[in-house]
Amino acid sequence: MPRLAYLDWNATAPVRPEVIAAMGEALARCGNPSSVHRFGRAARQALEAARGEVAALIGAAPAEIVFTSGGTEANQLALRGVPGRRLMVSALEHDSVRQAASDAAVIPATASGIVDLAALERMLAEEQLPVLVSLMLANNETGAIQPVAEAVRLAHARGALLHCDAVQAAGKVPVAKAALGADLLTLSAHKLGGPQGVGALAVSGRVPLKALQTGGGQERGRRAGTENLAGIVGFGAACRLAAERLGDYAGVARLRDRAQERLAAIAPEAPIYAGDTARLPNTLAIGMPGIAAATQVMALDLAGVMVSAGAACSSGKVRRSAVLEAMGVSGAAAESAIRISLGWSTVDADIDQLVEAWGALYARSQASAA
Ligand SMILES: Cc1ncc(COP(=O)(O)O)c(C=O)c1O
Repeated sequence: MPRLAYLDWNATAPVRPEVIAAMGEALARCGNPSSVHRFGRAARQALEAARGEVAALIGAAPAEIVFTSGGTEANQLALRGVPGRRLMVSALEHDSVRQAASDAAVIPATASGIVDLAALERMLAEEQLPVLVSLMLANNETGAIQPVAEAVRLAHARGALLHCDAVQAAGKVPVAKAALGADLLTLSAHKLGGPQGVGALAVSGRVPLKALQTGGGQERGRRAGTENLAGIVGFGAACRLAAERLGDYAGVARLRDRAQERLAAIAPEAPIYAGDTARLPNTLAIGMPGIAAATQVMALDLAGVMVSAGAACSSGKVRRSAVLEAMGVSGAAAESAIRISLGWSTVDADIDQLVEAWGALYARSQASAA
């Protein structure tokens, strides 16, 4: 069994031990937050404390937070829960946005992996109907940080609303909802040290949100269903810890930069995607010319190094990346791009292992091409 180096943090991050402890305590207690008796009131208290911690991470008011089953549901709620608006989504969005808005107008991106703001401005000027724009804060494949505050200014100047998917950014870089000015903002617990299957949509008071899931009227009528209390308690703890430990990402950035330099030294022709723009501190998207991403992922896995081929998809199949396509990357190049993503427990030895395994695969590919 080789030493294992987990470098797929954008797919999911490990649950922090303090989160596991908090969830264990929550699971051990009985109580529905909607019940009026003492067990119910204790559950409600835990729920509201977690709501406060989630809100604090993004500088939102607790009342703005609607808990959901994850980032996917929060994105669906944002795009389908504000009816009567023409949707405009960036070409860089996660499938959970793109597929919630299949009839949306698509805002193109630049070769650096940044949304084209001039195109957005034109599209807004030409649209007669009220608009809802969706633009992520950081891209899951390249890490490219998007100009959300500028997009909000353009949107608001035309009376449009803006939804921001901050799933990949939260916990890695500061996210201030008010500074961004976003009207709706999506979070997911499992990308920042919390459990899978819980997330939130932060909804500004002026947005008329219509529930997609109706029933018991939970979440102030915005999302029915008994709350996933243990998951939400874990989410709250993860947000608190993420805020306290945001500084750890300076070290993560140094490791990522070192990994990038070392891989580029092995193969100077290997393209680094969004390498010329502001990126998340933990993400590196790189191509190994001529070698399919799936082959790279398997070869690295055999060497104990876990990375992903562009966007991980539930079937485990690798599709050509729509993000790289939007950046104008050729089909062949996009098919040989992998995503390496680090986190707070990544160490030098993980990077050494990656560089060694990637370098060995590259050397084999060069030898067989010769
Ligand atoms: C940018 C982005 N948005 C949304 C999601 C979906 O979040 P969840 O896995 O919580 O449904 C992901 C997950 O990969 C993501 O990277």
